[in-house]
Amino acid sequence: MLILGIETSCDETAASVVADGRVIRSNVISSQVLVHAEFGGVVPEVASRQHLATVVKVVRQALRDANVKANALDGIAATCGPGLVGPLLVGLELGKSMAYAIGKPIVGVNHLRGHLAAVYLEHPKNPSPPPFPHVALLVSGGNTTLFRVEGPTKTVLLGSTRDDAAGEAFDKVAKLLGLGYPGGIVIDQLAATGDPKAIQFPRALPGREDLDFSFSGLKTAVATRISTAGRPQESAMPDFCASFQAAVVDVLVRKARRALGREGLHHLVVCGGVAANRGLRQALATAAAEDGFSLYVPTPILCTDNAAMIAIAGTWAIEEGERGRPDLSVDPGLPLS
Ligand code: KG4
Repeated sequence: MLILGIETSCDETAASVVADGRVIRSNVISSQVLVHAEFGGVVPEVASRQHLATVVKVVRQALRDANVKANALDGIAATCGPGLVGPLLVGLELGKSMAYAIGKPIVGVNHLRGHLAAVYLEHPKNPSPPPFPHVALLVSGGNTTLFRVEGPTKTVLLGSTRDDAAGEAFDKVAKLLGLGYPGGIVIDQLAATGDPKAIQFPRALPGREDLDFSFSGLKTAVATRISTAGRPQESAMPDFCASFQAAVVDVLVRKARRALGREGLHHLVVCGGVAANRGLRQALATAAAEDGFSLYVPTPILCTDNAAMIAIAGTWAIEEGERGRPDLSVDPGLPLS
């Protein structure tokens, strides 16, 4: 089965052809990051216009790279939420038009379902996909959530952030430090040579029995420190970043361990943009070795937004008989049911 995935929920215009729900035949990602960096964050209207200008070229490129003609596709999957309404509409409406033109099914895919599915895509670094059920920690710019994943289309929510998402905390702290947007990757790079024990930042909800997260207190602690002591000098930046990153990573690892214990499961998937963070990957690998659970993290290019993950999640939905109706539309706050 050949499925075209289209992803336009935020600031990446992406298209991908995936064969048989596993093999990536093409994976084209056009990032708008430089356009939004000027504003220090994503501007929804600017994002919509960029998607409009780019999406057809990106889809054409994905078909060319896969060496597939549109009418050879078996279906189209496009992200229908959660995300920014204008950007979502651009991708979904193109997907619907193409599906109508070639007479094949269209399905709307929940972006979060895509992140959870990314680890099942074939990649030399992901040789064996995780069995069901497993626990998944989804950490991105908009989400920090723990799920029990029962099957390809069935998840149970275990815990979520009560305020900022982990990626949002990385981006806001990077902004406070004058490191530009998006800051997660810059903090990751600087932290690599810093001392994570240099500054004791707070760990939110450490003793609580629930599986929720909170990162706003940590962000405030960083802001307070900067307003009293000023921004760290260049030489002190690695220690500052390593200490902040350790505070985020500690809580993520602690809650993921708790979720595995509570659910009695031994397989952990970590996905979403922040799963690309080297400090988090390292800390989880250590926890996996200590506790004896198996860890599955997609390769970094499949952690951040891409359309291959939308194509595989769409393949599963089509295989289960799902078909989008002509009035299929987007939902910016679409929950994962
Ligand atoms: O999954 P993603 O591409 O988009 C959403 O669906 O939100 O995640 C983007 C987020 C941003 O907040 C970005 O700063 C963060 O992931 N991110 C990282 C790293 N790479 C991306 N955060 C920490 N370390 C990284 N290496």
